[in-house]
Amino acid sequence: MTPNKVTGSKHAWALLMFCLSFFCYANTHAHQEKTGRGKFYVIGTGPAGPEHATYKAIECIREADVIFCSDDMSERFSTYLKGKTLLGNPWRGDFKYKWKDLEKLGSKEKKAYQEERIRFWDETVVKIRSQMAKGKKVALLDSGDPCVFGPSHRIIEGFEEDEVEIIPGLGCFQAAMAALKKSSIPAYDTRFVMLTAPFFLLGRPENEDILRDLSKYPITMAFYMALKHADSLIAKLKEYYPSDLPVAVVYNAGYPEKEKVVKGTLDTILRDIESEKENWLGMIIVGRCLEGQPQRGMIKHVAR
Ligand SMILES: C[S@@+](CC[C@H](N)C(=O)[O-])C[C@H]1O[C@@H](n2cnc3c(N)ncnc32)[C@H](O)[C@@H]1O
Repeated sequence: MTPNKVTGSKHAWALLMFCLSFFCYANTHAHQEKTGRGKFYVIGTGPAGPEHATYKAIECIREADVIFCSDDMSERFSTYLKGKTLLGNPWRGDFKYKWKDLEKLGSKEKKAYQEERIRFWDETVVKIRSQMAKGKKVALLDSGDPCVFGPSHRIIEGFEEDEVEIIPGLGCFQAAMAALKKSSIPAYDTRFVMLTAPFFLLGRPENEDILRDLSKYPITMAFYMALKHADSLIAKLKEYYPSDLPVAVVYNAGYPEKEKVVKGTLDTILRDIESEKENWLGMIIVGRCLEGQPQRGMIKHVAR
């Protein structure tokens, strides 16, 4: 290569690098215009307060400037929230519309409720963005693990993927299985675990087919948000499964003073839990993994 060609290609190279740096600067700048230098964290805090939160979750809460969480959560994590700006309850209004239970809303009211929800979530996104624009670290505290039935995703959906960091947490399912001292899978001939909630399976004929179809296969079922619907859920399961199928209800999993396990079968469980008052913090677990020695049973089953 002649000296001129070398100098020419050096110039072209320098020009290319300059353009690239300018493009990166402009891009980052545009991004910061939108989100500021702050960051948005969604933190899985575990099923029962700080004792079950991960080290990373606690560190992230400590470092945050601004917190969104329920009143209940702010009490349980009060030690870590001192001196922080609390911006309110991100789930406010989730369960009632104009003091009415959601199940009792007519179609017009249901529509109004949905519109109102979207508006509220959008407003929350705007509030978070405005804090980020000031360079603040904003943390939204979700219970258990945010990625299993985590309401925080209503807010997360208002952000670009790279604007949010999710800190995983210990879910109530894990805490419930620990309380039962059982493993959900492998167990006998069970091949999978279904994490679900009654409102996905009951009430509409097409949903009920799901339970009927799945009942062909041995399965461990874990029901969230199921206590209020225990009667209809168990009645439906009884249509497809044998009445001696083991069922356990784990209330307040992970809470040292309140955790409670009730064990029974599809036949007995409703009587067994009749006197329980809790209608939210409980998991209903159904399956053969709850009986006998399922690990050893599985080996025998495979060897058959
Ligand atoms: C909206 S879901 C939240 C689940 C959460 N993201 C998790 O991973 O644990 C709420 C439902 O989770 C269950 N749940 C949450 N915490 C619980 C606990 N400590 N003990 C038993 N069930 C719990 C209940 O079924 C409750 O109705």
